[in-house]
Order: sequence, then structure tokens, then C-alpha cells
Amino acid sequence: MDLGIIIYSQTGNTRYVAGKLKEKLEAEGHRAEIEEIKISGSTPAQAGKFEITDAPAPDGYDAVIFGSPVQAFSLNPVMKAYLAQLPSLENKKVACFVTKQLPLVQTGGTGAVARMKKECESRGAAVLGTEIVVWSKSKRDRSVNKCVEELSRLF
Ligand SMILES: Cc1cc2nc3c(=O)[nH]c(=O)nc-3n(C[C@H](O)[C@H](O)[C@H](O)COP(=O)(O)O)c2cc1C
Repeated sequence: MDLGIIIYSQTGNTRYVAGKLKEKLEAEGHRAEIEEIKISGSTPAQAGKFEITDAPAPDGYDAVIFGSPVQAFSLNPVMKAYLAQLPSLENKKVACFVTKQLPLVQTGGTGAVARMKKECESRGAAVLGTEIVVWSKSKRDRSVNKCVEELSRLF
């Protein structure tokens, strides 16, 4: 399968997970390409204070995995803006993941992946799964591995 991994990453954590996903998917015989959403403006991005300069198109892929950080207990505003400008994802297979720092519940992860899922489904995508990667030292490796295992199994 031809997979796109479309991410926004401000400090590299989401990019790291995307790289691990790409390795795993390719090891399983898929083609996987990482594409990054780029912005102009200062970071961390604040709603209304940045412009998307590069918005990768999901069209050419059989399936797409979207990845983003959590910011301020919510989905990062760049991924919010990117998803909002997407055209139809009719019949596209999709998975979503977020990375976040805080190991506690109710610190933005569940709401952020739910937002991504809703945006994709409203454009006709079949969302096959979502994952939350916790970047805190004690949980990081296990959390990244779980995300990679669970999402790669979907395709
Ligand atoms: C401005 C800002 C707000 C953040 N808010 C949260 C938050 O609400 N909950 C959380 O768990 N992590 C939060 N984080 C941590 C990031 O989600 C985490 O470091 C993430 O893995 C960064 O991904 P990136 O390196 O791909 O940009 C925040 C980070 C920044 C810079």
C-alpha cells in the first residue's frame, strides 16, 4: 500500500514517531512517505498568527496517517488549520496520532485525537484507528512502540 504520513512537528517528537512508523511500514512491504506541514510565523503557533506555507496533499496515497503535537490541552492549531482546509477524503483510509508531554489523563490527548478523527470523518474518511504517544521519560519508549505497532497493523 502507498502510505502518506502527514505531520506537523515543532520540536521533533512527532517527526521521530513518524520516522519509526515509516521504518515499520516499509519493513512490512508498504511504501511510506513523510510529508511535513510548514508554516511561517513564530512558534509555538497561535491560532490566527501563522500561515501554512506547505500543505501536503493526501490525494495521491491509498491511506494517510496524520500526526501532530498536543498544545494547550488541545490539538495543535497548525494541524487544526491544516485539517480545516482539506478537501474531500472520501473513501480514504486514515489513522491519526498525537504526541504529548504530560503523562496524566485529561491533559489534551484524547480530545486532540478525537478532533482529528472528527475532521477526517466529516470529509468522508474511514478512520481506522488513533493513538496517543506520551513523551515523558518513563513512558516514551513503550508509548512510541505501542503507537507504531497498533497503527502499522491497520494497513
Ligand atoms: C506551547 C506548548 C503547549 C503544550 N501543551 C501541552 C498540553 O496541553 N498537554 C501535553 O501533554 N503536552 C503539551 N505540550 C507538549 C507537547 O505536546 C509535546 O512536547 C509534543 O510531543 C511536541 O511535539 P513536537 O516535538 O512534534 O512538536 C505543549 C508544548 C508546547 C510547546
